[in-house]
This record gives sequence, structure tokens and C-alpha cells, in this order.
Amino acid sequence: MTTEISVTRTHSPKARPDDSTLSFGKVFTDHMFLMDYEEGRGWHDPRVVPYGSFTMDPATSVLHYGQAVFDGLKAFRGADGTIRLFRAERHAKRLNKSCAALCIPEMDADLIRRSFEAIVAVDHEWVPSAPGTSLYIRPTVVATEVMLGVHPAHRYTYFIICSPVGSYYKEGVKPVRILATDKYVRAVQGGLGEAKTAANYAASLAAQRDAERQGYTQVLWLDAIERKAIDEVGTMNIMMQIGDEVITPPLAGTILDGVTRNSILQLLRDWGMKVSERRITIDEVMAAGRNGTLREMWGTGTAAVVSPVGELGYKGEKIVISNGQTGALTQKLYDAIVGIQYGRTNDPHGWTTEV
Ligand code: COI
Repeated sequence: MTTEISVTRTHSPKARPDDSTLSFGKVFTDHMFLMDYEEGRGWHDPRVVPYGSFTMDPATSVLHYGQAVFDGLKAFRGADGTIRLFRAERHAKRLNKSCAALCIPEMDADLIRRSFEAIVAVDHEWVPSAPGTSLYIRPTVVATEVMLGVHPAHRYTYFIICSPVGSYYKEGVKPVRILATDKYVRAVQGGLGEAKTAANYAASLAAQRDAERQGYTQVLWLDAIERKAIDEVGTMNIMMQIGDEVITPPLAGTILDGVTRNSILQLLRDWGMKVSERRITIDEVMAAGRNGTLREMWGTGTAAVVSPVGELGYKGEKIVISNGQTGALTQKLYDAIVGIQYGRTNDPHGWTTEV
């Protein structure tokens, strides 16, 4: 039996911002999605309601022990007005995987996918149409049991909020500068690195602050043991082209299984390129930068899309990549992925779904 999602519409819709003013995650739509979990009753009462604040007891467990997971996906408005979700099913599965890692009861994957569609359908007028804009959808699950004991909660809330967005970085789609750090670490095998959980982002803040103080956009994380192997960037997976090989770190337990990462690897393989998901050290990358074989570097992520890297810093040395410009392959990948997302080109893998 399919669980019905009820809809209660707002009586006081907000003014929508002009597409030209959009940055990332500053304004929110008129509605949100909610669903509750209680032990014994399971997940129940899926509903779309007017956007509003939560009241929480100060002893609510998520506020103390961070039992919280989220995901992020986007809805795009094509030139003909059609709204498409990008890889909704894969995002639903990843949200459940993050739940499992944090001992949060998983949800029906099809209901998660329908929750994305339901909120976008109700707030469809909020999906912007200017080039490079989209509706960012943020599904989140938090522990809502009121208790101070450290154990998995018996109550949770799943909510989705949506935000019309432009570029994630202030640089737009221009090259960003990243700084490899061996002072801080993000994740270790056996930890939470693969999960999209609040803790990983809290753990990134001090390193991010230091990188920004040195004029960099983001941190490039190295492995937590030797502090040599490249893991990922603060808000995206990382890829590079050295000679004719495209290299990205493997999914070995410490990095996020990025949906854009997976899509870009598929496109590269479709084009017959040599792609390696393998361990690569910062020393190897810096050496390739010095001897001229490091041709391009880019990040991939839902928020960042495909983001060129124009400069890499490590231990006081700076490597300029592709003359600080967007490389040809990076541009081709960006164009290919946004072409599919906005419905301008074929979608051979069936990644988009119309709402
Ligand atoms: C995303 O790309 O969806 C992310 O989650 C990055 C973010 C934390 C801004």
C-alpha cells in the first residue's frame, strides 16, 4: 500500500527573490516536508506543511550528541519550463545509508523519493529559471528524543527544506583555490567519513577558517593516518587529469560517495577516457604540477556542480593549474552535466525525473 503524503498550503506566501540575486542557501520556500518516527510505530505521517520554526526541548538529543544526517539534491527548470530532479533515487539511497551509519531507522526509499517530488511539486513556482540557478533540496533527519543518555534515540524527525540557489562559491564557475592540510583531519576508516552527517561539517570548520585566512576557497583533505593520500575537498569530491589519466580517490570508507562524482565518472567512461579510482598522494600531485603533467583539476558536488581548481597550495608551495583558467575537459564535463540537468541534451542514463 502506498503511503499518502498530505498537503497543507500556506495562507501567506512569501515574496520570491529575483533570480539575479540568488547566492547559496539564504532564502527558503513557502513549505517544508515533515515525517515522524517513534519506536513501535515506525515512520509515519508524511506531510507537506507551511515552512516554519520547530520548538525543541533543550534536552533534545540531536542538540547534544549530533545524531543528524542530511543530503542535498537539486531541481532544475528547463527552457520549456519543465522541472527535473537529478538522480533522486540515488540521493534517497544515500540518505538511508547515512541514516544506517548513525543508527537512525531507515525509511522506505520510494517514500523518500516521493517526498522530494511532493515538496518540489507544491513549491514549483520557487524553482528559478536563470542560467546556473536551481532549487536546492535539503532532506535532513534529526534525533528528537528528549534525553541526555548517550544511545540511539527512539524518536526522529525527517524534514525537507528547499532554497532557490545560484552558485555555491562566490567565484561562480570560475576556478577556486584549494589548500591541502596536514594539520587537521576530516575522517578515518571506520568512522563517519562516508556519511553525510553534521559532525563531518563541524570537523571541517577550523581547517576551512585557516584556509580562508590564507586566501584559499576550500581545504583539500588528506588521509588521517599518513596525511599523504588525497581524500576530498570540504564540499566536493576531487578529480584531476595527469597525462591522459583521470584520477579520483577511491570510495574506501573516508569520503562521500558523491552523486555528481558518480555521474562524472560515468560520462568520462562513456567518452572512452582512462579513469582510475585510486589512491594518489599529495606528493604525486605536487610533482605532476611541477613537471607539467598535471593538466586539470576539478571538484564535483551537488552544490558546487563541476568546479575548476586553478591553484593548489601545500606546505607553503603553490601550483597553478591550467594557467589558473578553466581547463577544456573541466568545461566539457560542466557543459555535459548541466546539459542533462536542464534537459538541453539527451539523458542516456535516465538520471532526471520530471516533476
Ligand atoms: C552538497 O553539495 O549538496 C553539499 O552537501 C555541500 C554542502 C554542505 C554545501
